[in-house]
Amino acid sequence: MHKNQGPVYYNDYLKLETFLDCQHPLSLKHASDEAPEAHDETLFIVVHQSYELWFKQILHDLNSVLKIFSKPQVADGDFGFINQRLHRITKIQDMLLTHLGIMETMTPMDFLEFRSLLVPASGFQSTQFREIEIKLGLNTNNRESVDREFFMGRLTAKDRDKLTALENTPSLLRLVEAWLERTPFTVTGQFNFWDEYKKSIAALLAEDEATIRANMANLAETEKAGQLENLKTTQNTFNSLFDVEMHKKLVESGQRKLSQKAILNALFIMMYRDEPMLTMPFQMMTTMMDIDENFTTWRQRHALMAQRMLGSKIGTGGSSGHAYLKRAAETNRVFLDFFNLSTFLIPRSRLPKIPAEVRKQLNFHS
Ligand code: HEM
Repeated sequence: MHKNQGPVYYNDYLKLETFLDCQHPLSLKHASDEAPEAHDETLFIVVHQSYELWFKQILHDLNSVLKIFSKPQVADGDFGFINQRLHRITKIQDMLLTHLGIMETMTPMDFLEFRSLLVPASGFQSTQFREIEIKLGLNTNNRESVDREFFMGRLTAKDRDKLTALENTPSLLRLVEAWLERTPFTVTGQFNFWDEYKKSIAALLAEDEATIRANMANLAETEKAGQLENLKTTQNTFNSLFDVEMHKKLVESGQRKLSQKAILNALFIMMYRDEPMLTMPFQMMTTMMDIDENFTTWRQRHALMAQRMLGSKIGTGGSSGHAYLKRAAETNRVFLDFFNLSTFLIPRSRLPKIPAEVRKQLNFHS
């Protein structure tokens, strides 16, 4: 417990004199009789500054989670901190989404009053936003090259170097991948969970095929063939879990990001989430999906706002504006593999039974 060194004054503690003196509309600086100050530029500045302040808090929480994951072993007790801090990020994201509604109380005509004064500044230059993306696992090298050039080319050399250096440090995605790879349980002694899982899948698919064939009698030949083809595709999708070459191709095409081993262990956690030892890791994966989903929702919402403000005009940063932002929302996903795990889930009643010795390990010890 810290000892108080003397009386603290609210305004001093929060550095409010400095903090509240950081809003300087350019339209005020350049005001003239013909072009007076644009009233809404203050809102524009305040909303952006609020975002940057919350980005700071997100990075503060994210950094602490990265630090925990950087340890050779993540202690069971650490999952409480990890989940609490990741959950906080989702709450901040919820609130940041509503900021866009406040921004939209400014009409496109009001925006035009000062927009030209901002060129070439743009959200492209928010290094904190990029830092969050990179730390989560969106390496700009994996993005469309035109996009990378767009925003990297609009930064100062100092900021560019900082972000490039950051790209060479392990992201949350990579640290979680390494942690998942280390997760035991699926192959222990005589027990190989995946052999059992494959048997369950084979039985389920055989049942599906029998049902399809039983209901086919009245179908046209082309429809019969189509249904059987769909079944084959489902079979192939399951095979892609275990087939090294298929997995490699999916990674190359950007459809998968995690290693095969990490995906398998993540699937095990998803399926056996009710086992005491796996409850917290399952919550963590769920929260990571929430963060990813919230990011995508924000990107989509921001793209719509840009369309509302600009129509099809280009952005102040020089991109195609709404079209660029819409594409960025569709392509930039971090924890996509966790979402796609649902493809491989099976009903609880069909889950392979875990041997007693493994089960014991999945329980907390008193
Ligand atoms: C009038 C309101 C806004 C408009 C019209 C707008 C428009 C745009 C446009 C067109 C871009 C693409 C880059 C460019 O060519 O400039 C962009 C990027 C961006 N904006 Fe906004 N924006 C607005 C408000 C905001 C706010 C409040 C934030 C909060 C921080 C924000 C954050 C960003 C970020 C981070 C990017 C980069 C996105 C990426 O590359 O994926 N924008 N914005």
